[in-house]
Amino acid sequence: MKHATKLLSLLLTVILACSALPVCAAAKDENDLRFNEDGAFKIMLFADPQDDEDLEETTTAIMGEALDLYKPDLVVYLGDNTVADGYENQAAAIDAVTKPVRDRDIPFAIVFGNHDQEHGVTKEDLLEIYRDLGCLTYDADPSIYGCGTCNLPILSSDGSHTAFNLWLTDSGSNNTDEGASGYDYVHPDELEWYKKTAEALKAANGGKAVPAINFQHIIIPEIYDALHVKLPFSLGKLSVQTNGNSYSLLPVFSRLNGYWLEECCPPEVYDGQLQAWVDEGDVIAAFNGHDHTNSFTVNVRGVDIVNVPTVGCNSYSNDINRGAGLITLHENDPESYEYELIRSFDLALDKTSSIPTVQGGRSRAYYGLMKTLDGIAQLFFKLFGAVQTVFPKRG
Ligand SMILES: [Fe+2]
Repeated sequence: MKHATKLLSLLLTVILACSALPVCAAAKDENDLRFNEDGAFKIMLFADPQDDEDLEETTTAIMGEALDLYKPDLVVYLGDNTVADGYENQAAAIDAVTKPVRDRDIPFAIVFGNHDQEHGVTKEDLLEIYRDLGCLTYDADPSIYGCGTCNLPILSSDGSHTAFNLWLTDSGSNNTDEGASGYDYVHPDELEWYKKTAEALKAANGGKAVPAINFQHIIIPEIYDALHVKLPFSLGKLSVQTNGNSYSLLPVFSRLNGYWLEECCPPEVYDGQLQAWVDEGDVIAAFNGHDHTNSFTVNVRGVDIVNVPTVGCNSYSNDINRGAGLITLHENDPESYEYELIRSFDLALDKTSSIPTVQGGRSRAYYGLMKTLDGIAQLFFKLFGAVQTVFPKRG
């Protein structure tokens, strides 16, 4: 009898284990992002960590403390995520940069930047490493340009329908077209895939476009038309030449909401991505990394273009503008959203913060000084912007 009980128990264990297998397998690939019961959905953005297998301790601390404080439902890495040499080191770097998120069981996704694949590992292989760690990004159509272009629907809180949509777009590296120069652009087949998928989502939504946000590394080329004054002729080094036009060296600060601390680096050709968004009518905002010290928002033809500064402490930046982006979506008002930049100095000034004490950290007095300088700089931008209000706003 004792043996029979043991046998029965073993049999039950095997049956239960076998029946659980397909469920586990399905759960790994299943995207079950959905609005919370309170109707909110928070997305944290980490742009340009740009570090190797020995990730700066300050970067890890900034990420971890931002995650603990704001408890996002999803994290998106905005490209230039890792820059380690060779497969083993890139795998270790990916493990390190995603660890703060994985340790907290938060779903995450990535887009690639212009630097990720410059270290002897293809984007396809990098994506496989990310996927093995639970990353939600997938290559929706491997036949189109780049890697990792896809979409992640967010379900309504009751799970009945797609309430919002996230586009993850590979904006490439460098423009390798014959005779071309500058950064890469979003290629026609990527835009075709976007339009086709947006139309399918729209059809499934009763003919109404599903509100969406786009995430990609490189900013759109129209940023110059939106931010700068187009000049009738070149002023040499006192102007910027791009997209076949000349623009004022400085932007019109009154058109900005946030910091502009470096020249924007979009592709040098108009790729039609903004027009595609306008035509489909779904994208309300686009978030970029790439220009590490810019943290502005500017509305271009109805789409908010938001540059998220770097979170990384091992790439060029400064301690005023370093941090993480935080988007809050609302199920009952999906056409709008809230956005704030979580500054690293604010995190470091909290009494419980480990940022000042980890390797590479600075004193609390130093972070206090950064906060003061930020206040002065913001005042300057406002005053300078007020002086420039003679220039019309672009929308
Ligand atoms: Fe970068």
